[in-house]
Amino acid sequence: MSDGFSLSDALSTGNNPNPSAPPPQGWPSWGNQPGPGGFPAYPGPPGTYPGSPAAPGTYPGAPGAYPGAPGAYPGAPGAYPGAPAGQGAYPGAPGAFPGAPAGPGPYSAPGQPPSGPGFGPSPPQGGPAPPLKVPFELPLQTGLVPRMLITITGTVNPNPNRFSLDFKKGNDIAFHFNPRFKEDNRKVIVCNSMFQNNWGKEDRTAPRFPFEAGKPFKLQILCEVDHFKVAVDDAHLLQYSFREKRLNEITKLCIAGDITLTSVTPTMI
Ligand code: GAL
Repeated sequence: MSDGFSLSDALSTGNNPNPSAPPPQGWPSWGNQPGPGGFPAYPGPPGTYPGSPAAPGTYPGAPGAYPGAPGAYPGAPGAYPGAPAGQGAYPGAPGAFPGAPAGPGPYSAPGQPPSGPGFGPSPPQGGPAPPLKVPFELPLQTGLVPRMLITITGTVNPNPNRFSLDFKKGNDIAFHFNPRFKEDNRKVIVCNSMFQNNWGKEDRTAPRFPFEAGKPFKLQILCEVDHFKVAVDDAHLLQYSFREKRLNEITKLCIAGDITLTSVTPTMI
């Protein structure tokens, strides 16, 4: 073209005429991530839950958490879909995202003001929320999707043996994250998958063991394009490559073992 403008100029992955332009609002700035445009099949703007029905409900009590994305989570207004009966997944609402990612952290949700209670010794406004029942099950209505972040806060029980997170596809376990406090008098984190009732090869390569008996923790699981990232107390711990790749069929997170569970909060980043 005579004016020198080409299509690639207009594309963010092309010859960006302004490479220093800030990322879209809410875009996380992780050092080890591909830039905008680097995520294949990026499902939509941050905050949207892809595959949500046309007239989704709203995610209660999270103003500002999903900029520009009303109805990020489908379901009846006021409830995260499929939340276990008799107890809210978000105890103590409103004011009550006790474990809401407060950022900064390795996998911070965008738009979450750091003014929230976040993780720490001070109880949320209005007093501590009652614990969630363990074992706990979080239905993931449309399955996992890259950029989905699940933030779990809780406290390790006294004299713990083990606890686990299981991301499940039916009876299969796509990702088993299992801190063990006393295996042969040692502490170890075991990651694995189970298909058709058979466990695969255990991954015991976590570089450290960040959990302590009686101590609170914040555990974050970020679903990426081909792996999970796990961070504890705002520090990256490990990643686990997908062995099950049909993310949309991974529709349940089960949490069990020797912890007291305070909050389980799925967000999109
Ligand atoms: C087994 C244990 C399971 C699971 C698995 C992981 O020994 O019984 O609960 O942790 O290891 O490989």
